[in-house]
Amino acid sequence: MFERLEQVTPDAILGLMAAYRADPDPRKVDLGVGVYRDARGETPVLAAAARAEAALLAAQTTKTYVSSVGNVGFNEQMTQLTFGAAHPALKANRIRTVQTPGGCGALRLAAELLRLAAPGTKVHVSTPTWANHEPLLGNSGLALERYPYFDASTGGVEFPLMMASLERLPPRAVVLLHASCHNPTGADLSEDEWHAVLELIRRRDLVPFLDMAYQGLGGGLEADAFAPRLFAAELPELLCAVSCSKNFGLYRERTGALHVLGSSPGSADAMLSQLARLARGMWSMPPDHGAEIVRRILTDAELTASWQGEVRTMRERVVALRQKLLQQLREYCPQRDFGFITRQRGMFSFLGIGTPEIRRLRSEHHIYLTDDSRINVAGLREENLAYVARAVAQVLKS
Ligand SMILES: Cc1ncc(COP(=O)(O)O)c(C=O)c1O
Repeated sequence: MFERLEQVTPDAILGLMAAYRADPDPRKVDLGVGVYRDARGETPVLAAAARAEAALLAAQTTKTYVSSVGNVGFNEQMTQLTFGAAHPALKANRIRTVQTPGGCGALRLAAELLRLAAPGTKVHVSTPTWANHEPLLGNSGLALERYPYFDASTGGVEFPLMMASLERLPPRAVVLLHASCHNPTGADLSEDEWHAVLELIRRRDLVPFLDMAYQGLGGGLEADAFAPRLFAAELPELLCAVSCSKNFGLYRERTGALHVLGSSPGSADAMLSQLARLARGMWSMPPDHGAEIVRRILTDAELTASWQGEVRTMRERVVALRQKLLQQLREYCPQRDFGFITRQRGMFSFLGIGTPEIRRLRSEHHIYLTDDSRINVAGLREENLAYVARAVAQVLKS
């Protein structure tokens, strides 16, 4: 049966990880993998998560099933974290939330719901977008198309081009937008631009689909949720996939959620019932452990405050690294403008250098980044900032 299956090449990022691990050079720097790293280069278990987990283990008396929509307390807390506790759409009872295996599970579940609601639907994604959007959405049978987004000449968003492209979409086309901390470019929309996108979506009757995987790591927990809050207040429908991998440090626990906004409480209920059925057909029930950790953090004032402090520390570290990297690049590479590095937000930046230079960074300087020139800023350390900036200057010079 399986003889005809061909070997596929592994994901480029996995190859990069393996090459980094195998490199014996002590100067090696990993700017490839998309996980937060602290000053020691580690991806720590957050203290708030460790305390919540210890309490969970002490209190848990059963491992019996929870449900297809997951941990109800987690869903309530996540809804408040995304939209704020007093959001008008919550008061209107139009939001429903389903726990999913990570943000990836939320994206996939949303894709299945879209296909069920309108089988021929196309999802429009930014150029570029997170590489995994393609299989996560495309494997469910949805067609993906691209709209212009990143302007390599400024390191920002090509906003007029993006808007002109969205303007041409047919009614009911689905538009996937990164709510904050765009992956892979770090280029985000301003609040004014979000308002303009909102008006366009409303006027053209488009369907907004937000992906928020880095809440808290860009401008703060509230600021980063600007788009879902605005859209849910102003639009009839919305899909919003969220992840607890980065901001709760729960990567391997596979913790995330899908929020849906219906045009009425009845429509929201119908969406929820379909989501529960779709989830049952994919993973049956999401893993509870990470969700229960998050629920415990967000329902305990002291743990919440401690977690918020940890998120602030992660954000401030990334912001400080951006400033320091820019300083170093200005020193070693004065002929080139890297000013976009401090304008971009979240963990990622596109350095805007070519593939041959990226290959040389790897082979000559042991600095690992993906071929599109995305760097994980959190992968930098005080000790290697100057080394990285000097290496970038060297490969750009010769
Ligand atoms: C843009 C984006 N969306 C969603 C995710 C989902 O992450 P996870 O499934 O680990 O929660 C990620 C993780 O890297 C991401 O970068």
